[in-house]
Amino acid sequence: MLAVAVFVALLGCLRAQELRGHVSIVLLGATGDLAKKYLWQGLFQLYLEEAGKGHNFSFHGTALTATEQGQEVVAKVLESLSCPKDVAPARCAELKDQFQRLSQYRQLKTTEDYAALSKDIEALVQREGLWEAGRIFYFSVPPFAYTDIARSINSSCRPGPGAWLRVVLEKPFGHNHLSAQQLATDLGSFFHEEEMYRVDHYLGKQAVAQILPFRDQNRKALDGLWNRHHVERVEIVMKETVDAEGRTSFYEEYGVIRDVLQNHLTEILTLVAMELPPDVGSSEDVLRHKLQVFQALQGLQKGSAVLGQYQAYSEQVRKELDKPAGFLSLTPTFAGILVHLDNLRWEGVPFLLMSGKALDERVGYVRVLFRNRACCAQSEQHRAAEQSACLPRQIVFYIGHGVLGSPAVLVSRNLFRPTLPGGWEQVGGPPGLHLFGCPLSDFYAYSPVREQDAYSVLISRIFHGRKDSFITTENLLASWAFWTPLLDSLAHEAPRLYPGGAENGHLLDFEFSGGQLSFSVQQPEQLVPGPGSAPAPSDFQVLRSTYRDRPLVTAWPEELIAKLADDVEAAAMKAVRRTGQFHLALSGGSSPVALFQQLAMGHYAFPWAHTHLWLVDERCVPLWDPESNFQGLQTHLLQHVRLPHYNVHPMPVHLRQRLCAEEDQGAQAYAEEISALVANSSFDLVLLGMGTDGHTASLFPQSPTGLEGEQLVVLTESPSGPRRRMSLSLPLINRARRVAVLVMGRLKREITLLVSRVGHEPKKWPISGVRPVSGQLVWYMDYEAFLG
Ligand code: BG6
Repeated sequence: MLAVAVFVALLGCLRAQELRGHVSIVLLGATGDLAKKYLWQGLFQLYLEEAGKGHNFSFHGTALTATEQGQEVVAKVLESLSCPKDVAPARCAELKDQFQRLSQYRQLKTTEDYAALSKDIEALVQREGLWEAGRIFYFSVPPFAYTDIARSINSSCRPGPGAWLRVVLEKPFGHNHLSAQQLATDLGSFFHEEEMYRVDHYLGKQAVAQILPFRDQNRKALDGLWNRHHVERVEIVMKETVDAEGRTSFYEEYGVIRDVLQNHLTEILTLVAMELPPDVGSSEDVLRHKLQVFQALQGLQKGSAVLGQYQAYSEQVRKELDKPAGFLSLTPTFAGILVHLDNLRWEGVPFLLMSGKALDERVGYVRVLFRNRACCAQSEQHRAAEQSACLPRQIVFYIGHGVLGSPAVLVSRNLFRPTLPGGWEQVGGPPGLHLFGCPLSDFYAYSPVREQDAYSVLISRIFHGRKDSFITTENLLASWAFWTPLLDSLAHEAPRLYPGGAENGHLLDFEFSGGQLSFSVQQPEQLVPGPGSAPAPSDFQVLRSTYRDRPLVTAWPEELIAKLADDVEAAAMKAVRRTGQFHLALSGGSSPVALFQQLAMGHYAFPWAHTHLWLVDERCVPLWDPESNFQGLQTHLLQHVRLPHYNVHPMPVHLRQRLCAEEDQGAQAYAEEISALVANSSFDLVLLGMGTDGHTASLFPQSPTGLEGEQLVVLTESPSGPRRRMSLSLPLINRARRVAVLVMGRLKREITLLVSRVGHEPKKWPISGVRPVSGQLVWYMDYEAFLG
């Protein structure tokens, strides 16, 4: 048995070396739009490149369409095929004739049809005295048909031993992480990973396919530049003028993030951001390095995105999908996303991803903008034009369309003169042409000698087994794992409406600050549908009154957070002036996130060097777990400020590889640390929240510990997961000099009302037990929590 296997493998090697063999290419969905527009031409291109190099080919156009009808369609498409300009007409006609003779249409419906196809291929191979090198099945069919086709290929149309099988799949590959996983599992039961080629046609765009070779060939110049010290930002953009009319049944389900950002733009991002493997020709290394990028991506928050929808979209959906008159879609047709990476190379560098329909121009590009530290002594008119160190410095991979009209790679002349591989030539461009505000003459500009469409590039790569130009299962799932939480959090967000085309003006311009994106201009009210206009935040002032006989600050969320941040800073200054230190205990959860961000980004005078940070409570999970309160603090505050490490006091919930084990005495240890460092165990400021059940910190109704007694820090149980918690006790909280309770959102309305009426009943409502002995308590509530 082993001898046979070795023999077959050896035979395969010998055959591969001889490069002789027969390859059958089966195009499923051969009469469909994609096939007509790109795939047949791509197959012809492959034939032009490979004919005479040793392999024989047969091309099998297949579909559900009846034979005669299908044959007619395919014959028409074959007639329309064209050769590149550099192929002489006579040679072109000859090759086209050969290709037509090698291409046939057949109906492929049942498993028997697949078995018959397999037989025919075997017979052909035998008749011609060839050996079978492999079979390619190109799925140009809707995804719901994948499983049946995959089953039939697997059971009845696999090539014999020694020959390879490659199946080519088109997106969408799922709708979110779960469905992508399901689809991957289904396909995985029919095909091996190395047999699957998932297409992202952007990886076949010449300028995109050039990113890695360019980085490789210009390693010397780029080595010192391709990092956070030199790159100011990276923009990855795909703008379209077309809208979604005629495709709304697909688009309603997907929207721009799933349609373009999750795949095309994310793939490009990985090519820009990945560590360059020593050998960029190694598919395996490239794929491995791409995956590492996904591991370094920082999670996205709602604030990482701005969304838009062209105004006519809802009407198109109503018409095409038969929706009722009042139906308004929330599907975004435009998105801008801010992505950050958590690694030494890219930390802090904004990667801006943007795509949309019905925009002012059709264009795609990746723009790497470098910082400019030069200060030029010569005035502009006396500088050597183009070379001045004071001009913008950028590298652009121009994917196509736009003012240039073709793919290009551009490097500012004041950066370096790049090397490009054969097949790319330096180009000028018409005088007066400007790109990103610079005349084209400011760049070394290169374009492909022969423009090729993405599908031709990819079909050639499938044939050559270049897996790095395709999406592996791991890559796909990593991408969905990155995008799905954002998609979930945005599911109910209303996108900004835009008129479409040039009229969009500045409506969709956006900017980033403090890790957040926002539109640069306010949405004009006439674009907002619905009766009347809602009160704007500026219509309200910060209100001051009392709640439970203590001071209350109410405002819109943004102002409320700003006020609280100011008060925290004032308390910090006061404490540092008084004792040289500021002891701040912070709660976790979602409400304080905005406060952390505000403190991190907007409070430059904050005495961080003298601040000690303590946790009010913690979930019994490892500190790196996304559920951990400390992790939230780390992401939104600690990594942005200069706090000495020894001033950070996470709760010891994870000792000896165990979580909150009583015998590890973590709570006691934290209490001792507090007693040792905080004078009288009296924090300068404790920030609390209030749960809808009246809990505060991790002190829940009926908690047997922490509501009274001697203990400073306790282990508790939450009614919802993760159940085990560690928390400061009420007696400890009440020793603080100042306690701030932050309550935000409509969901808190009921408990806010209830707690306003109850007395001191910590067993029922632990928050009612917050009564600093000699310190001050201030309530901070947004209007939604306070007024409903
Ligand atoms: C596809 C999207 O993947 O890419 C379309 O589904 C989009 O919505 C298209 O129009 C853009 O591709 P290209 O090659 O025209 O830039």
